[in-house]
Formats: sequence, structure tokens, C-alpha cells
Amino acid sequence: MSSELIIHADQGATRISRHLYGQFAEHLGTCIYGGLWVGESSPIPNIRGIRRDVLSALRELRIPNLRWPGGCFAESYHWRDGIGPREGRPVTENGWGGIRESNQFGTHEFMDLCDLLGAQPYICGNMSTGSPEEMADWLEYITAAGDSRLAQLRARNGRVEPWPLTYWAVGNENWGCGGHMTVQQYTAAYRRFQPACRNFSGARLYKVACGWEDDWNEALMRDAGTLMDGLSIHHYSRTISHGQGGDPASMTLHGQATRFDAADWWHILRKATYMDGFITRMKRMMDRYDAGGRVGLIVDEWGTWYKEDDGKPAGSLYQQNTIRDALVAAVTLNIFHRHADRVHMANIAQMVNVLQAMVLTDGPHMLRTPTFHVFEMNKVHQGAVTLPADLTCAEQPVDIGTVPVLSASASRADSGEIHVTLCNLDPETPAALSCDIRGLQMEGAMRVSARVLTADTMQAHNTFDAPDAVVPIGFDDVRIGGGGTLELVLPAKSVVVLTVQA
Ligand code: AHR
Repeated sequence: MSSELIIHADQGATRISRHLYGQFAEHLGTCIYGGLWVGESSPIPNIRGIRRDVLSALRELRIPNLRWPGGCFAESYHWRDGIGPREGRPVTENGWGGIRESNQFGTHEFMDLCDLLGAQPYICGNMSTGSPEEMADWLEYITAAGDSRLAQLRARNGRVEPWPLTYWAVGNENWGCGGHMTVQQYTAAYRRFQPACRNFSGARLYKVACGWEDDWNEALMRDAGTLMDGLSIHHYSRTISHGQGGDPASMTLHGQATRFDAADWWHILRKATYMDGFITRMKRMMDRYDAGGRVGLIVDEWGTWYKEDDGKPAGSLYQQNTIRDALVAAVTLNIFHRHADRVHMANIAQMVNVLQAMVLTDGPHMLRTPTFHVFEMNKVHQGAVTLPADLTCAEQPVDIGTVPVLSASASRADSGEIHVTLCNLDPETPAALSCDIRGLQMEGAMRVSARVLTADTMQAHNTFDAPDAVVPIGFDDVRIGGGGTLELVLPAKSVVVLTVQA
């Protein structure tokens, strides 16, 4: 079947929020300790304790926001443990596998990391083992100016000015690790906690409530929709045999990051496309309670989740990252672009060494993953206007349904450039595609440049010995046909990003 993409370049009214490219860093495995934070006295080069190599890689992504300190960890985190002189901070238990939490990385270190990345902080407050007072105090500590007790404490700890802070989540997975609540219990708790999220000193908080599955989300929108700015959902591409809906710790996961066959390849990609159905249902429901589209849908955890790599501790959630993960990322970002009217923010899980990471570290070594490269190639879409695009392509039968073999999205930058992300999910067969860009204001000949991320095998990934095995390269298999149509052949298992100038 021949595949065709029609892009309506003269239409489109919605901007792709740059916050769809958000990241997530939890105190889990080696995401924070070892991955981001090594401490000022480490032989690993660092800026005030934060690894230089990781920082410099992540800066290439133009990260808009960073979610912290969890995840489930947030629901056992008490912020006062992580302030003040580091040598005096307590050692506490981290619920994730009972590992030790040194509290060396706390509020000041996180805000410093955000500054160094140029990212906005997105903090998740503790709702199940914390109190509204503790949450209010944390917000006052971060955002109050002047001589309030907590502003003074912050100043004594080295930071006089309040930090700018907009994004704040009231709890995480409160249906599971965050208190095992019913939606009625969560709604009542949300009503108690959200007044504690005060706007100090001119701040204007964007409050995110904790969603889950369809019924929960509808009840929450109905009963507390007017009190929130965002409704959070999570979706992972993974194979689990039971435990769905309970604690992450109670599930049985199947499949590994680098050991899989073609059936597993398609299964995970099909799971990634569930995101489209989930968002579509949530948009329909949210339109009923919030017709004006004020409340954003916030996908603040998404990505692939496999069993830990061999030799990595249970609970560390450390997994390698192949060209399959790159395709999951690109397909998911295409879905977000198409739903940019309601999806205001998203955070891939997680930034370093955990789940679908951007970078992996091992002692002093670091590598960029194939997923990193998708985020880097795709950053041209941040803040651009999403364009309607109609894709016709074959469907691949999979154990759990069918999945379109191609995926696409397009946007128009303020410069007038059109960017198109194209994915060929087929691991074996290249795909011929005609791409008709309609409504382009042509001032001369159309100019097209492109990059491709692909690999020879489904399991291809970067290692510390070969960190550039999977990297984007220039792509020139694009022919400008009659009437301005582009004719391309997308390699098997590839992500192509086109830049079109008219
Ligand atoms: O990202 C890992 C974990 O997955 C988070 O802590 C939790 O919110 C989710 O279940």
C-alpha cells in the first residue's frame, strides 16, 4: 500500500507547548545520586555538585521543565530533611527498594539544577504522609519574599531571593503509592490541600491534581475541576501480567530493553499508541466539564518500562535504550503534538539512569541514548504551531490489535519553517511516502533538509564503549516532485525530521 501524508501548512491555530518536552528526575536508582549529583568533592567534574558532562548533554535538549522529587518518592519526602548545611542533614529511608536517602540533594540543589538547565521547576508535594501545613511551608520557603519566618530561613541557608515557581502537583498516584485512596478520598484531600498552595509574593501557581483511569478522572473533574489548573495522567509502554492499578512494586513486568524479538517490538509500539486513545477519551470528558479548555491535561509520567538490565539492582529501574525506545518517544511526541489543544505538559520518565532515560552514566562515563536524540531532533517543534496532517498508511497486526506502520506530525515555526517528524515503525521494510504540503506560500524553490535516526538491528543501542552507535545523520533521500510534493523513502525503524523552507 502506498502511503501519503497531507499537511495543511496554511491552517493550525494551536501552539505546541514547549512544556510537552518536560523531564522527570526522581530519587530512585541512580537518577539523582550518581547520575545528576556527585557532590562538590567528587573527582567527577561538577558545578556545585552537579555533573558537568550530564549538564552539558541535557542543555542540548532545551528542557522546559523538570519534575521532582517523585513520583512515589514524593509521597514519603519531607522537604525539611533536604535543607541547611549538608553535613547536618538526616539520612532517611527511600521507599524505593528501601535504599538510603542522604538528603544531600534537596530544594536548593534542585533549584540550582533547574537554573543550570534553564528549566522551570515542577515540584510534586507530599499528600499522603505530609500535611497541608507542611506543603504550605514548603511553598512559603521557596516563593515568599520579605521577612517571613521561612523566607528568612531560606536566606540563612544561602538564598535571599525567592525562586520563581509555577508548576506544583498536589500528590502523586494517590490511588496507589500515594495513599491508596478512593477518588472520593482524594477529592476531599485535594480540597483540603489546595488552599495550602498559596500564591506568595506575586507567584501564580499552576496546580496539578492527580488523575488515574477514566472513571477517577471524570469524578475528579466533576467535583474539583474548578479548583485545578491541570489534571495529571500517567501511561507507560510495558508488558505486565498483573498488579495493574496497584503499587508499581507489586507488578510483574516482562520484557527487557535489549533482549526482545519482533513480536515484542510491535507490542511495545502498540502500547505507545494507546496514548492517543487515552488522551482522546480524556479530552472528550474534559470538554464536558471545562468547555473553554482552561484545565490542561498533564502527562507527567510516560515512557517504556522493562525489567531491570541484567546485574542491575531490583528497584533501580535501570534499563538500556534502543532504537525501539527512540520510536516510542517519537510516536508519543507526535501524539502530543496532535493533541496540543488540551495536553499542556508532559514529562518523560525519567531523565537520567531510570526507565526511558536521556542519558546513562557509569561512574565517570556518560552516554546519550537514542531517546535523547529524538528529543534533540524534535526540539524544533517546541512552541511552534501544530498543523493538521492526514496520514494514510498500512496497519500492522499485533498481538493486542493493530498499529499504523507510520506516524507523523508537523508544525510551523515563527520563522515560517515547517518541521515534520516521520516514523517508520517497521523493523524490516523501508516505506515510500508522498508528503503533500498544501498551502505553502512559495517565494522560490522549496528547500528541504532532513536528519534521520535509524539502526541496523532492532536492539541497536549506545554503550559506554560505543556511545555513538545510534546517532542522527543527514538524510537526503527526499525528492521534490511535481506540485511541491515530497517523495521519500523512510528507512526501516527510523525517525526522520524534515525542515521545509518555502
Ligand atoms: O517513574 C517511576 C514510578 O512510576 C513513579 O515513582 C510512580 O509515580 C510511577 O508508578
